[in-house]
Amino acid sequence: MNNIDQEIFNLINSQKKNFPLDQKFYVDNIIFEKDIEHIFSNQWVFIGHVSRIPNIGDYFTVSIGNESIIVIRDKQNKINCFYNVCRHRGSHICIESEGNLRKLICPYHAWSYNLDGSLKKASMMGEDFKKEDWSLIKCNKNIFEGLIFINLSDKPISFAEFIKPLEPFISLHGLGKAKVAIRKVYEIEGNWKLALDNFHECYHCHPSHPEYCEVHSKDYIQSYGAGSHSGPESAEFNKLLKNWNKKVDDLGYFRGEYSENKFSNFYRSAERTPFSNGRLSETRSGKPASKLMGNFKEFDGGYTTIGPSPFNSLIMSNDFATCFTFLPKTNKKTLIELMWLVDNNAIEGIDYNKEEISWLWDETTLADKRIIEDNQKGVLSKKYVPGPLSKMELGLEKFKNWYLKSLKKSICV
Ligand code: FES
Ligand SMILES: [Fe+2]
Repeated sequence: MNNIDQEIFNLINSQKKNFPLDQKFYVDNIIFEKDIEHIFSNQWVFIGHVSRIPNIGDYFTVSIGNESIIVIRDKQNKINCFYNVCRHRGSHICIESEGNLRKLICPYHAWSYNLDGSLKKASMMGEDFKKEDWSLIKCNKNIFEGLIFINLSDKPISFAEFIKPLEPFISLHGLGKAKVAIRKVYEIEGNWKLALDNFHECYHCHPSHPEYCEVHSKDYIQSYGAGSHSGPESAEFNKLLKNWNKKVDDLGYFRGEYSENKFSNFYRSAERTPFSNGRLSETRSGKPASKLMGNFKEFDGGYTTIGPSPFNSLIMSNDFATCFTFLPKTNKKTLIELMWLVDNNAIEGIDYNKEEISWLWDETTLADKRIIEDNQKGVLSKKYVPGPLSKMELGLEKFKNWYLKSLKKSICV
């Protein structure tokens, strides 16, 4: 182990149970680079939905740390993911973040590539130059129910194994027959772990999220506020859950709970829980906001929360899905991308309106942006010392433990 790794190893071992991380984890550039290489890159992360690029040549780019990935639909209607790196001298090829192209042309010396990544033209090259040796480099990719997952590792974990326990939860909602109704990107001036610390606890919900507290009852927040069993149990909510489980069984819909925290490459959870107060959808009024999706024949008053990895979350009512992607950009910058999916036959203005379906998580994410940024400012102070966590921050503690064990493992190999 080199000196830098030894120092990080000692720092990991010095972290206290039920306290947040030391300052260094939230600001240090070397740790950030390790996070990208060993933590983010080992995960299958969805970065969009196929309906965002419906036509041949439609593309968007997504960037994580120093990497930029092009996601493009080719002439065979296949979606390809390529590293945005020209095979000549390495320039980014796609400069715009989205658009439509007939071919990919590098802006530097005009090498051009077909939509399947093969090199089409490179002028003035030598006799022995073989175009077939210089295709764009593919990024690992899998599409499940319209969600485009990428993995930046050179040896990705099996996608089939990764998705298997989540399949019935996602399939129920029919995301493969959905379309993006709205998409928003929130740029956060904060480390990705501060953004996820915040996402994994609901201790802050009462002071910061009046909208969330209007939609979800105190009992629900106490039991499930930020992911599966992240807070203390509520007898009241458990009673509601029992009755709702019976109703859902009678309707024949899939339900249940899946939670895995092997402290290895995986961090997955999924569950279906009821709304309180007779709500049918995650809207201000509690009334449905769009057409039923997937296998639902009627509203069952429940919704599904899935965490395929720490970098994604799906929160789905019967009629629309809110999809979260957390993208670490630098040691002090993170993008949170939200897309709201509705049934692909739903018509805007008739079956749904954008404001109604995005209201809760738009307001909530704007507030999260503010509190994460204030948190980062305080954590940068020389007087920052991690303070004790509350009973409502068990989700944060779980996320922190997963992170520390994953980082430690990567240093020790
Ligand atoms: S770097 Fe792309 S053509 Fe030269
Ligand atoms: Fe929040």
